Amino acid sequence: MDRLEELKKRNLAAEIGGGPDRVKKQHQAGKLTARERVEKLLDPGTFQEIDRLVTHRCSDFGMARSRIPGDGVITGHGRIHERPVFLFAQDFTVFGGSLSEAYAEKICKIMDLAMKTGAPILGLNDSGGARIQEGVASLGGYAEIFLRNTLASGVVPQISAIMGPCAGGAVYSPALTDFNIMVQGTSYMFITGPDVIKTVTHEEVTKEELGGAATHNSRSGVAHFSVQDDASCLGLIRELLSFLPSNNMQDPPRVEPRDDPDRADESLNRMIPESSFHPYDMEEIIGKVVDEAYFFQVHRDFARNILVGFARMDGRVIGIVANQPAVLAGTLDIDSSVKAARFVRFCDAFNIPLIVFEDVPGFLPGTAQEYGGIIKHGAKLLYAFAEATVPKITVITRKSYGGAYCVMASKHLRTDLNFAFPTAEIAVMGPEGAVNVLYRGEIARSKEPEKVREKQVREFRKKFANPYIAAERGFVDEVIEPSQTRRKIITGLELLEGKQDSLPPKKHGNMPL
Ligand code: HXC
Repeated sequence: MDRLEELKKRNLAAEIGGGPDRVKKQHQAGKLTARERVEKLLDPGTFQEIDRLVTHRCSDFGMARSRIPGDGVITGHGRIHERPVFLFAQDFTVFGGSLSEAYAEKICKIMDLAMKTGAPILGLNDSGGARIQEGVASLGGYAEIFLRNTLASGVVPQISAIMGPCAGGAVYSPALTDFNIMVQGTSYMFITGPDVIKTVTHEEVTKEELGGAATHNSRSGVAHFSVQDDASCLGLIRELLSFLPSNNMQDPPRVEPRDDPDRADESLNRMIPESSFHPYDMEEIIGKVVDEAYFFQVHRDFARNILVGFARMDGRVIGIVANQPAVLAGTLDIDSSVKAARFVRFCDAFNIPLIVFEDVPGFLPGTAQEYGGIIKHGAKLLYAFAEATVPKITVITRKSYGGAYCVMASKHLRTDLNFAFPTAEIAVMGPEGAVNVLYRGEIARSKEPEKVREKQVREFRKKFANPYIAAERGFVDEVIEPSQTRRKIITGLELLEGKQDSLPPKKHGNMPL
């Protein structure tokens, strides 16, 4: 009986973590506790805790007197949409959720199990970082986690939710995972905080400005999603997983389709503006093509000149990469190239077919872009599309100019099906730029330079700014009526279901990082 009592006592201590006062503080800060988060995240009643009774082994700084079972992190497994997942939830009520050696071992244990069983790893972060009292043992613990994040990359999906502080080297675990979700107002991520920055660079910046959800979603691109509160964060993880396979050997889950695969949309025939200078919203085109008009955008607030995200077509999951002519005319720049490249590589690693909607006038010109390394960053997207062996389908809606033509999953990068709308313009450069190069002398000599320029632009546009030269060469497989886009893509996806393609044997490529 005594032994049973002892077990109950320890289990209860693990249940209440840092105690009622700290739980109250957590709630007052607008945050759920680690245990509440786990319960909300998983299918009801499926959580199986592991290492509930683990404690730290530190006896310096009076730590021997405070050993709380669980040691500040809840780890285990459960189910989401009935599929197994492994997870850890950092408990800020215990030593500020700081990471000890034993705590790191708990996380590593579930990561190892996730790898062996092929299940996603979910991390709920809310921590003061390395447990100061443990020194290098804590740093070593972090590095063990980073190693596993790296080895798991491309094998099982890894999702990080930032639901409180995440600072110093601790940020590198989320940074190595596939998706970061940040809760507005309560979460922040930075390498060095405002105080250190003030001392070193004399800059004054708040925690929120430096590393809040808005900063990392719209400026740095470190985070992929920004959510209002803990509940929406956990709901979003569940939804994100509905698009993903459990590991790289599986296909993403197919759902019972509720939308007609043959649905034609006549309004698509009128969507592209007459003038190629007029913007339009590519999201509207995507909405008309995918199942139930539902596009689950990733990185919505970052590099908005390109759209990436998941959708379904006839119940099959697809990854979409689309230029957005409504922002920066849809040009490719550093941020949009990196954003899209990372997404393409994720989809390729996890067997998610890629659908590209293309309307790109070229790379964004300017010294900021050149000095920032647009050459190497643009090459990342090129590399990612070329390397990808999943089914790839491209639809050129309007502009496809210059290097951007090559980059955006052109036929030459072994894209399986390349379609173009009749409004497509495929050429080395836009008519205005081309005429300035080709007819510079003639325009300069003319008494009516504007008239000459306009005439040449008209002729150039008639001759080159269309999809037919590319179609004559087979670089475009078919010029399609826009209303038929959905049917064409779905037929393509069916055709490509059993696609096999490979890369030459190598240890790994040398992507232009
Ligand atoms: C040990 C810690 C801790 C830590 C917080 N606590 N962080 N204990 N190690 N890293 C303890 C506090 O002492 C306190 O204990 C309790 O957790 C709650 O913390 P508060 O400070 O009261 O909470 P709050 O005011 O909300 O502030 C949260 C905080 C702050 C901003 C995170 O605690 C903080 O600045 N912590 C230190 C952050 C830090 O510098 N970490 C190391 C970063 S470097 P009591 O008992 O008093 O309530 C790093 C390197 C990783 O992590 C490298 C990996 C390679």
